Formats: sequence, C-alpha cells, structure tokens
Amino acid sequence: MKHILFVCLGNICRSPSAEAVFKALIEKDGMENVLSCDSAGTAAYHVGERADYRMRMSGLKRGYNLTSISRAFNPERDFDQFDFIIGMDRQNVRDLKSMARNETDRKKIHLMTDFSVSRKYDSVPDPYYGGDSGFELVLDILEDACAGLLRKLQ
Ligand code: 4NP
Repeated sequence: MKHILFVCLGNICRSPSAEAVFKALIEKDGMENVLSCDSAGTAAYHVGERADYRMRMSGLKRGYNLTSISRAFNPERDFDQFDFIIGMDRQNVRDLKSMARNETDRKKIHLMTDFSVSRKYDSVPDPYYGGDSGFELVLDILEDACAGLLRKLQ
C-alpha cells in the first residue's frame, strides 16, 4: 500500500482537488487496496473549512465531489505516514523541505507537475485571488499530472 499526500497553501483549492481527482482515478482502476491519498495545507488559515465554493463548483462540473476538510500539514505525523508528499507549486515544496527532519523525509517530497504527461505547466498556480478560469486551469493541470502519477505508481 502506498499513501500519497497532496499539499498546497490553504488546503481549500488545489490539494483537495488533487485528492478528488486522484481518488477518482484510483476508483476507476480498482486500486483502492494499493493506493490511498489525503491532502493538507502548509498554512493553517482555513483549518476546519470545506474546500472553496468556486473550486467545489468547478470540480462538480467534471464529476469530482470535493469533500475534504482543511487541515494543516503535520511534519511529525505526515512524514512518517505518507510515502509521497506532493506540493502544488515551488513554494509548497520549499516549505515542505524546510519542515523535513532528515534525508528520508526530504526524499518523499515532490512537485505535482513533475508527474505531468503533457509537461505544459511547471506548477499548479494558486487560483484563490483570480477568476473562474483559474479553477478550471487547476483541474486541467491536475487531471494530467494525476494520470502521470498513477502511471508512475503502477
Ligand atoms: P490553495 O489556495 O493553497 O490552493 O488552497 C489558497 C487558499 C487560500 C489562500 C491562498 C491560497 N489564502 O491566502 O487564504
């Protein structure tokens, strides 16, 4: 069993979407017994909240139900519990690396778009202060990168 954790800043837009997109792929391929995923944020601003309404609506239009509740990344627990810890942008990766306790932790940290198949984007941009197209772009990039991640793990 491999455990994957998706990480962004607030855990209300990008990483809960990554979790929903990847869960849908896991279910589609019947890999529930081999792969599991969760999400967290490097900042605690939105702890306890559901995903952003705009992100949930964009997800629903594509058949993704974003059900996760925001939580903060917990280095003491998450570095031990997860095999892959995947940041949405380079700042997320830097923040995660600054929390790593040792080389074993550091080796678990990856950038989401490094799994991208199309390689059109080099990060999942923060959609929070932008318009609707930002949320659609997040899903476009995540669908591509989650497919690449699944392929790598298979
Ligand atoms: P996320 O988006 O990191 O994809 O969840 C954001 C959510 C909230 C904020 C920034 C980014 N914020 O500044 O509150």
